[in-house]
Formats: sequence, C-alpha cells, structure tokens
Amino acid sequence: MKIYKIAVIPGDGIGPEVVREGLKVLAAAARKHNFKIASASFDFGGARYLKTGELLPASAIDDLKKFDAIFLGGIGHPDVKPGILERGILLKLRFDLDLYINLRPVKLYENVPTPLRDKKPEDIDYVVIRENTGDLYTGAGEFRHKGTPDEVAVQSMIYSRRQVERCVRYAFELIRQRHGGNPWRGLSEEERKKGYRGKLTLCGKTNVLTYVYDLWERVFYEVAKEYPQVFADYCHVDAICIYMVESPQRFDGIVTGNMFGDIITDLAAVTQGGMGVAPSGNIHPGKVSMFEPVHGTAPSFAGKNVVNPVATILTAQMMLNHLGEEEAAANIESAVKASVKKMKSMLVGQMGHSTSEVGDLVVQNL
Ligand code: IPM
Ligand code: MN
Repeated sequence: MKIYKIAVIPGDGIGPEVVREGLKVLAAAARKHNFKIASASFDFGGARYLKTGELLPASAIDDLKKFDAIFLGGIGHPDVKPGILERGILLKLRFDLDLYINLRPVKLYENVPTPLRDKKPEDIDYVVIRENTGDLYTGAGEFRHKGTPDEVAVQSMIYSRRQVERCVRYAFELIRQRHGGNPWRGLSEEERKKGYRGKLTLCGKTNVLTYVYDLWERVFYEVAKEYPQVFADYCHVDAICIYMVESPQRFDGIVTGNMFGDIITDLAAVTQGGMGVAPSGNIHPGKVSMFEPVHGTAPSFAGKNVVNPVATILTAQMMLNHLGEEEAAANIESAVKASVKKMKSMLVGQMGHSTSEVGDLVVQNL
C-alpha cells in the first residue's frame, strides 16, 4: 500500500481547525482508495515565534524536503508586525523550496452563490498560474533619506528569463492537458473554428512595465510556438479585472507574475463564492510542494468552529492530484460538490453548518 508522508503546518488563527477538516477528509479518502497518509505536524507560525523568537528552525527546509508534500493552514498573527511571519515563514518556504508555481483554480460550483449576477458554473472555470518566486516579492529595494522630507523608497520588480520561462512553460503544458469537459473553454467561435483546444492568457502591463512585462511577453510568445493547439492571448492586468467580473467565461488559464497573481486571485476567489472555497498549491513539479488555502488566518474567528473548511478540503484534493491519486482527488471534488449543495452559504456564520460539520458532510458524500 502506498504511504504518503505529509508535513502538516496547521499555523495560526483558523489554520488548525480547517487543517483538521482537511486531514479528516484525506483520511477517509485514503481508506476508500487504499493508500495511507503518514503525517507529522510542525508548529511553525506566530504563536511559536512569540514564544521562542524563532521563525523557522535552521533544519526546517531540509526536514520538509523529506516529505512527499506539505499541507499548510495559514500563517499570520495579530500580535506580530505585518511582514515578519509572511517573509520569515511563508515566503521563505516558497522561495527556499523553489515552489515556482502558485496554482489557483477558479471554479464556481453549482449552488454556490457568487456576487456575479447571472454567472453560472460553466462561466467561471479557469486556473490562474501565478509565478511564485520573483517580482516585487524578492524584497529587493531600499530607503534613501529615511524619515526626512526627501525620503525615497524603492521596491524592485525583478524577473529572470529562466524564472519566467519555467512558469510560462508549466502554464502552457497545464492548459494543453486541461480538458475540463470542454476543450474550447474561453475561445470565441472563430478561435474554435481554427481548431484551438484551450486558451492561455498572459496577464501583464506592457504599456507601463516596459522591462519586466516586455520580457514576459517575449518569452510567452516564444514558448507559445511549441504549443500550437493552445490559443495564446494577452491582456493587461487592469482589463483582466474587468473581464473577471464581466465575462469570466473568456478565461481558461491566466499566467502572470507574483504581484498581479496575488491581487487577481483574491478577486477571483470572490467570484467563485468567497475565500471560504478557494484552494491553492505552491508547486515545483517533481519536488516537495506545499498546499494551502488562499485565505488567511482570520484571527477573529479562530477556535470558534464557524469558518468554511471547503477551501482547505479542496486544497487537500489538489495535493492528492499532485501526488498522483487522481481518482481519490476526483472523488473528493464530487463529495465537495454534493456537500456545498446542502450548505446555505459559503460565508462564515451563514453556512448553516459548523466547520467540523462541513468536514463530516464531505466525508459522508465520499
Ligand atoms: C497569498 C498571501 C501571501 C502573498 C501573503 C500572506 C504574504 O496573500 O498567499 O496570496 O502575498 O503571497
Ligand atoms: Mn494573497
């Protein structure tokens, strides 16, 4: 029997309670599909930092590399100045494990209320492939004349061709393989007639960011030549925001840099029913990868058993997919689809179920 070694980082705030439901569903899926989850828990997060003053132990990265995957709840603490835990734990894990893809599926399930009036599940079904190691996130920059009226702050947007190319290539490969029941998603009638199967949109800002997104655009169309079956499309990030709300059906896959990817995936999450349903994976193909819901730690709801664990359960589903347990992953997704039909809302306090009841519901539907 296959045994998967999973490093679990419950983290702060609501992290532990949503992770608990994710593990519950994973255990049930394992029983049903004949594999085992061997999990080990790591206490990285704000509480540990406040107690010990340490963000990550020196051995953390090497220790985590021994696992098949990492399952993370959320990192962040109201008593710690913003940026310390993010940079010292979450981003450090993404960078040091070189998790260069942040994959964020945007999918509206049936019966899930969306603020987009008239939009149906068939309209909202795409993936955002967010680059995860570069951009404004590298922390490169400086203050000059700090604290004086002449102060200048610089924060550099940095990308290497290698970083861009591996991300863009991953995105084309993903879209080439993505069927989603409809290989013509996002394509106009005319594009369909040309025989494209799948569409990848580069989200950039070539009219202003004339270095970084110039590089992205050149690399994008170079790699596109290797994928003639995928329709390669470009859209400025501001226009992407319009379309994500107005006509999300035009998207199949969106590939973009780290900063734009961060912003547009929060907007995307709202269109798919809220932060309570949006999963994500920090991926390096073939290496240990880390799976976490898009939402944060929501400290005001912590320990109350009221938040929606669906995002974390779908995150577990992405992790199983990544590990090659496609059947179990598909089963979890079906169970989630059946479960959300029984929930009143995806929003905290309005679900008609507690956090643990939602987990139980998904297990029953497996
Ligand atoms: C996310 C989060 C992080 C990010 C923060 C917590 C550093 O917003 O995963 O989207 O900006 O990447
Ligand atoms: Mn974010």
